[in-house]
Amino acid sequence: MRVVVIGAGHVGLPSAAALAHAGHEVVGLDDDAGRVAALQERRLPFFEAALQELVDAGSASGRLRFSQDPSEALPGADVAFICVGTPPARPLRPGLQGGPSRPTGEPNLLAVEQAAERIGRCASGDMVVVEKSTVPVQTADRVRIVLSRSPGHHHFEVASNPEFLREGCAVEDSLHPGRILVGADTPHAHEVLRRLYAPIVETGARYHATDVRTAELAKHACNAFLSLKISFANGLARVCEAAGADVVAIADIMGSDPRIGRAFLNAGMGYGGFCFPKDLAAFRAQSLRLGYDFGLLDEVARLNDEALEAVLDKIEGALWNLEGKRVALLGLAFKPGTDDVRESPALRLARSLIGAGADVVGFDPRAHAQAAAEVPELELAPDAYAAAGGAHCLVVCTEWPEFAALDLARLRELLAVPVIVDGRNLFDPEVMARAGFTYLPTGRPPVKQEPPPARPLPAPPVRRPSART
Ligand code: UDX
Repeated sequence: MRVVVIGAGHVGLPSAAALAHAGHEVVGLDDDAGRVAALQERRLPFFEAALQELVDAGSASGRLRFSQDPSEALPGADVAFICVGTPPARPLRPGLQGGPSRPTGEPNLLAVEQAAERIGRCASGDMVVVEKSTVPVQTADRVRIVLSRSPGHHHFEVASNPEFLREGCAVEDSLHPGRILVGADTPHAHEVLRRLYAPIVETGARYHATDVRTAELAKHACNAFLSLKISFANGLARVCEAAGADVVAIADIMGSDPRIGRAFLNAGMGYGGFCFPKDLAAFRAQSLRLGYDFGLLDEVARLNDEALEAVLDKIEGALWNLEGKRVALLGLAFKPGTDDVRESPALRLARSLIGAGADVVGFDPRAHAQAAAEVPELELAPDAYAAAGGAHCLVVCTEWPEFAALDLARLRELLAVPVIVDGRNLFDPEVMARAGFTYLPTGRPPVKQEPPPARPLPAPPVRRPSART
C-alpha cells in the first residue's frame, strides 16, 4: 500500500520505517527542510536505538523516502498518518472576563489542523486519514470538517490509531507491538487498516478494533493510568521513608499479583518526557470540557512534583546549605536509552539547585547538547568520574545501565564528600554501605556512615586554689 506519514518525529519516524519494513511504500513528509535533507542522507534528527538501521534498510530498499513537499508526497496515497506534535497550548486565548477561556492543559492542535488541510488540498483520490498523534477525544470530528473542504471533493475516512511506543524501545515497539488499536467508523476504513497492519499483526500483536472516539480516549486512559501507577509508587515511597520500610520490596510484592503487575511501580524522581506530563494535563482538561471533574488526575501530577521535591530535600538535608556546594547529576535525559530531555526530572532538579546557588555539574551518555540548550548554566563533564570529582553530593537522576557498573571505590575517592542520593534506586544499599557511602535511596532505609569521632579537646589547665584564698 502507499502510505504517507506526516511528521518525522519520535512517533512518525519509527512508524514510517516500520511500515516500510512491513512492505509498504512509505513517504515521510515533514515541513522542516533541514530535517528532511538530513533524513534523505540517512542522518537521524535524534537518537533512538536501532532506528538508524531500520531507516537505512528502508531507504536502501526504496520503500522509504522523505519529502518536504505535500503536493508531491500525497497524491496517490491510500493512507495518510498524522504524526505531528500536540504540545501544551501556551499561552491560552484569554477569555472575555480576563481569565483563561479553557481549562489549562489543553493541547495545541494547530499542527493537526494544518496536516489535515494539506491532505485535503493535495490528495488525488479517496484516502483513509489516520490520527496517530495523541489527541483529545472528538478531534476526528474536527479533522473530518477540515477534510470536507477539500477542493478535489474526494472521500476521506478518518480513523484513530494511537501509538503506544516508548522512546528508547521505539523500533522494537513498532516492529513487534504488544497491541495495535484501530478506531474507525466505517467497515471500509477498518478493512484498509487491517490489511496495512497484517504483516505486523502476524508477529503476535493483539488487534483492537473500536469506534474512533473509543480509540482516541483509550490512549489518554493508558498514559494517565501508567502515570498514576508511578505516582502511587512515589506516594508509597514517602510513607516508607517515614516508616522505615522498603518501597522496592513492597513494589515486588504488589507486582507479583497479576491484577496489579510490577511494571511502572518504580518510585524515584517521577515521570518526565514529552508524553506523560502533557497527556495527563490534556486528559484532565478534556474531562472538564466534557463536564466531568476527574480530580484524581490532579493528584497524580501533584505526587509527581512531590517526588522531585523529596529528592531536593534529601540533597539539602545532606549538604545543609546549598549555596556554593558542588552537586553532580548522573543522567540528564528523562529516562535511559534516549537523548530526549523534554520535561526531564534531572533538568528540573538542575534548575532548582542552580537557583538555590549550588554549582551543578552533569553527565549523560547521550543528552549533552540537548541539556546544554535547555540549561546553559549547567556544567557538563566528559564522564561520570569527572562529574564526581570534587562534588559534595552525587545524584542518580537517570538509570542508565552503565552507571550501575561504575567503580565505586574510584567514585568514593573522587567525591569531596561521599554522599549519593539515588533518585532511581539504581544501587544496592548493602553494596553502598560496604563501599563507604552515605547513601540516600528513594523510599528505602538510608545508609548513613558514622561521622568521624570528634577529636577530644585539650584538657583545660588545672587551676590550683590560691594560697591566699
Ligand atoms: C510513554 C508510554 O510508555 C508510551 O506507551 C506512550 O506511547 C508514550 O509515553 P515514554 O514517554 O517513551 O512512553 O516513556 P516511559 O518508558 O513510559 O517512561 C515515562 C517516564 O516515567 C520516564 O521519566 C520514566 O523514568 C518514568 N517512570 C517509568 C518511572 O518513574 N517509574 C516507572 O516505574 C516507570
